[in-house]
Amino acid sequence: MISLSRGNSHHQSFSSLSNITTRTIIQMNDVWASYDGKNYVLKEITLSIIRGTNYAIVGPSGSGKSTLLRLINGMMRPSKGQVKVDYENPNTNNKQFKLAMAKIGYIPQNLGLVRNITVLDNVLIGALPRVGKFKSFFKIFPDNETSEAEKILKLVGLEDKAERKTYMLSGGEKRRVAIARALMQKPVLLLADEIVSELDHVTAREIMDLVVNAKRRFNLTAIMVHHDIKLGLEYADRVAVIKEGQKILELGVEGDKIVDFQTGNISQQEIMELYSES
Ligand SMILES: Nc1ncnc2c1ncn2[C@@H]1O[C@H](COP(=O)(O)OP(=O)(O)OP(=O)(O)O)[C@@H](O)[C@H]1O
Ligand SMILES: [Mg+2]
Repeated sequence: MISLSRGNSHHQSFSSLSNITTRTIIQMNDVWASYDGKNYVLKEITLSIIRGTNYAIVGPSGSGKSTLLRLINGMMRPSKGQVKVDYENPNTNNKQFKLAMAKIGYIPQNLGLVRNITVLDNVLIGALPRVGKFKSFFKIFPDNETSEAEKILKLVGLEDKAERKTYMLSGGEKRRVAIARALMQKPVLLLADEIVSELDHVTAREIMDLVVNAKRRFNLTAIMVHHDIKLGLEYADRVAVIKEGQKILELGVEGDKIVDFQTGNISQQEIMELYSES
């Protein structure tokens, strides 16, 4: 017989839990952002991202996609509204958030790799937050970090290029190094800004498969910016479409249907047009 009485329950008490986390890892409420205090490049952005989601942001050039990622990693503060990552307001000047930031693997649009150092050293940069300032200044990495970096390089298929200078790699290989560096951070959140744009279709898919596998393996939430709405829908659970600073649409795939989670502002005809444009 199943007993429902409280006395027999084996629920963990709050005090025995080491961490409290949110189910919604990112929450934005009516967020506006501006670089000059006059013109808003993001307007009325409201969105929730559930932990574990593979989330895509798509939209034309200049629509505000990179700015949206910068609001999440704390490089930029909103002019109005609220951004929450877990329980924190992202802000690189906030000590508490700096700890959280170490757990955000951010790959900027230009990848941010150091050209004239080796692939392995670029990946080890991801371990810097864990290694003391003194040691990292002199590039003294503990053996376990070096072997971790080698393991991750294997995962991204670059084990035979570890000692190569980074500028000698192809575009696809550089993307892999940037992903490896982000994974080296042991991130909870992966933010990737158009890392498959300008690649041929085959290479773009290889890189996307790599990210999706890493996401599963490390239990990450991934937020990826794309130019291509089709690529977004193919790989992501949710796709937010940004146009002129506003989120005009949020699509998801449920079974064999594309579901519009935003509903109202845009017609089915317009959605189809968006889809065929890219
Ligand atoms: N550092 C900056 N200072 C001033 N304006 C900026 C800055 N960065 C971006 N902007 C402006 O903000 C708007 C949104 O830029 P953002 O880089 O977020 O667009 P995007 O969607 O990522 O574009 P792309 O697809 O070309 O990368 C653009 O009008 C851009 O000119
Ligand atoms: Mg951009």
